[in-house]
Amino acid sequence: MVQENYHNMDSNKNRGRIVVTGGTGFIGSHTVVELQQSGYDVVIVDNLSNSNADVVDNIAKITGIRPSFEQVDCLDKEFMESRVFSKYSGIKAIIHFAASKAVGESVQKPLLYYRNNIVSLVNILELMPKYNVNGIVFSSSCTVYGQPDILPVTEDAPIKKAESPYGNTKQINEEIIQDTIKSGSPINAIILRYFNPIGAHPTALIGEMPNGVPMNLIPYLTQTAIGIRKELSVFGDDYDTPDGSCIRDYINVVDLAKAHVVSIERILEDKQLESVEEFNIGTGVGVSVLQLINAFERSTGVKLPYKIVGRRAGDIEKVWANPLKANTVLGWKAETSLEDTLKSAWDWQLKLNNK
Ligand code: UFG
Repeated sequence: MVQENYHNMDSNKNRGRIVVTGGTGFIGSHTVVELQQSGYDVVIVDNLSNSNADVVDNIAKITGIRPSFEQVDCLDKEFMESRVFSKYSGIKAIIHFAASKAVGESVQKPLLYYRNNIVSLVNILELMPKYNVNGIVFSSSCTVYGQPDILPVTEDAPIKKAESPYGNTKQINEEIIQDTIKSGSPINAIILRYFNPIGAHPTALIGEMPNGVPMNLIPYLTQTAIGIRKELSVFGDDYDTPDGSCIRDYINVVDLAKAHVVSIERILEDKQLESVEEFNIGTGVGVSVLQLINAFERSTGVKLPYKIVGRRAGDIEKVWANPLKANTVLGWKAETSLEDTLKSAWDWQLKLNNK
């Protein structure tokens, strides 16, 4: 059952203006909704290279408020200045999602990834001080840990050599932020290391929209369940895990979006904030691919055709978060059950296919 009229009373407050790059993307759009419902005024900046302007309409349907929208590429520093930083006064902070994110593609086109992901961040960090914007929340990934030696992984685990140019851009960008702050910049940064974001908004008005054949597990799974794909391939059942399939920490996208709101609050209001802080954003629970398939079948009642195939190159065997730092310092905790999250992904797939 899809929940409509999701408006929230908090939206009457005005807590300040936040710029969200990549705000029409999967995680970005859910974050814009949560920010608006917490009373922030949002400016979305997106070049629509991997998303659609309809997302802005759907955000407005959910919240009752239309966010400002600028179709600008973060690589274009002049446009970023004229259409965003100088056009909108009183920007309090920026959440930087805009990036290329396909691991496999990054191996084929490394320079595209280094340019898109790194130059965008450098442009933003250069523009921020000029307009007295001192807060940034940066989208990082558990990919920076590689295969951790100790699980669940904590934020102080060693950063391992990246497996892909995409992963490398996340590591480099974390370092760029740290070096900028070390050099005396007044910027405060929160780096969120996401585990595996899945699911969709409970209204089924926004969700993940992969281009072409999905690479990630959940969109492939829901497309299989609805009949677009014949069967799901489970990549390996000979890992050193209880059922032999890989283990991940699947985090609900709305819960993940809420982590950005509390990060913004900490940047804007908390005097204890260190100038740069990293947080794991995960549930703390590891789930195998086979367990996930079972949970999907249980929560939706839909039988999923799948077969076991060989391992996928570059896959990490097992990783899940220790989210204690986010729980205690940010006061954030994953709340949605895996079953409800999978149900939301299914409702979204049904909606995409007009079912
Ligand atoms: N998997 C399958 N079949 C599929 C797709 C995936 O069995 O068709 C398995 C993978 O082997 C893995 C698990 O499902 O064990 C999750 O795979 P995803 O591709 O959904 O996610 P990853 O953990 O590989 O990658 C995610 C993000 C990346 C990010 C990475 C590490 O998609 O952007 O986490 O942070 F880099």
